[in-house]
Amino acid sequence: MTSPEKLNHITRRRFLQIAGGTTFLALVPVARGCYALPSNGVRRGNLLFTALPYIQPGDNSRLIDGHESLVVAWQTESVAAKFEVEWGPSEHLGHRAAVAHTPRTSGDRGKMGFNYSATIPNLKLGRRYFYGVKCNGQTILKGFFTTRQPRGTSTRFVAFGDNSYGGQSDHRIAYQAWRARPDFVMNTGDNVYDAGRNSDYERNFFPVYNSDKTGPEVGAPLLRSVPFYTVPANHDIPHRDANRHPIVDFDKDPDALALYTAMHLPRNGPTPQHPTPTQGTSHKEEFLRCAGSRFPRMANYSFDYGDAHFLCLDSNVYIDPTNAALQRWIEHDLRSTNALWKFAVWHHPAFNVGDEHYSEQHMRALSPLLERCGVDIVLHGHEHNYQRTRPLHFAPHNLAKARAVGTGDRRTPGVFHVDRAFDGHNHTRPSGLIYIVTGAGGNNLYDPEINDNPKNWKHADDDNVEYVARAVSDRHSLSVFEIQGKTLYMAQIDEWGKTIDRITVTKA
Ligand SMILES: [Fe+2]
Repeated sequence: MTSPEKLNHITRRRFLQIAGGTTFLALVPVARGCYALPSNGVRRGNLLFTALPYIQPGDNSRLIDGHESLVVAWQTESVAAKFEVEWGPSEHLGHRAAVAHTPRTSGDRGKMGFNYSATIPNLKLGRRYFYGVKCNGQTILKGFFTTRQPRGTSTRFVAFGDNSYGGQSDHRIAYQAWRARPDFVMNTGDNVYDAGRNSDYERNFFPVYNSDKTGPEVGAPLLRSVPFYTVPANHDIPHRDANRHPIVDFDKDPDALALYTAMHLPRNGPTPQHPTPTQGTSHKEEFLRCAGSRFPRMANYSFDYGDAHFLCLDSNVYIDPTNAALQRWIEHDLRSTNALWKFAVWHHPAFNVGDEHYSEQHMRALSPLLERCGVDIVLHGHEHNYQRTRPLHFAPHNLAKARAVGTGDRRTPGVFHVDRAFDGHNHTRPSGLIYIVTGAGGNNLYDPEINDNPKNWKHADDDNVEYVARAVSDRHSLSVFEIQGKTLYMAQIDEWGKTIDRITVTKA
């Protein structure tokens, strides 16, 4: 007869296998998001994992079969340990990946930690691979992931932003994201609060999105099998300089800007002419060493997945979207992909009828360029609600404020041509771009008065053109996209799993 312990082990293992791509985990939870090696006992001074192994997309842009790679990353306190990562096309593994580590201040415990990563190279597209992580000779975790799908293959992804601040809604959105069984997550920025510190990731991000359990109250083990893409956003830049302009100050937060040290995203963008401004001396060198070539190159990047292409941009207040070098790269990037579907992703909404961030319209300056280059859908966060525009063409007629970097009022007026025939059901072929704000990913909701109430939508500066089709601000939600050839399905799912909006978009 199977003992209760054995039964529990089997159930747990099977559960994790189905739930999150982990087939074995030998670590013991000792605190929120912290795990220890069980063989050493759970006592102070043992090696603590402050982030369990998680999958990252790595430096991949175009789809090249046999040249795909993925990154397995994790974080520990700064106790010496020997790690090995093995991988292979079956659970027998058989290959070994080189493990690198760099020290990084681990946060408000005032201790240094280690950020580890192992790049698994030369993979085929659209294949499941298995991996295992050993610590001092002991297997601590086994899991699997799937590489990016090649062209001609259907793709499902989830998109949301402004998540992970420490509340219950974080867990519910993570759970709904996991339920959608996505190939990857496309986050629209502010993926962790309050200040993008490594300690914020430890406290609010990893325990929710790489939870060892699954449920609306605990999150989901998504990150250990599913790549997570994101973009820089305002909460990554939490301090102010002498002129009150946003900046990252490493003297105030030694573990700031962890986006560039915890994440491993493509580096195919240009070196930004307006990189994230930083100051402070005490920990900046340590940050730069840990980030390496990721800072500031990960600010703007692109990648393909199946039949889709994603252009991901930094839209923070120091960005001038009319910058010629930036626009040249965007045009080159969008014209050199043969993807059927093109997405652009950045944090600050170009079009938004809520009050909270209404005047931060600078990224509208890119609309004509994106239209010329065949972009279909633009994804944003920042406004903590859901808004979907009708398909639209937009021609700005005054870019002065769009160019005024560092200011709060960047209203950018222009001329709208709105496709009123498209309804996403009977008329599915849009004329123009669809802009989606999906910033209801966890943090406190904004602008309750705009909830499905066009009378309260703020667009007086846009000559009251009714360009928004839906605005839902009374609940948290995320977007689920499924691309099947020339048909795209998008559903907005609330934190309880209810569909609150749905459209189909088709191509000729
Ligand atoms: Fe934001």
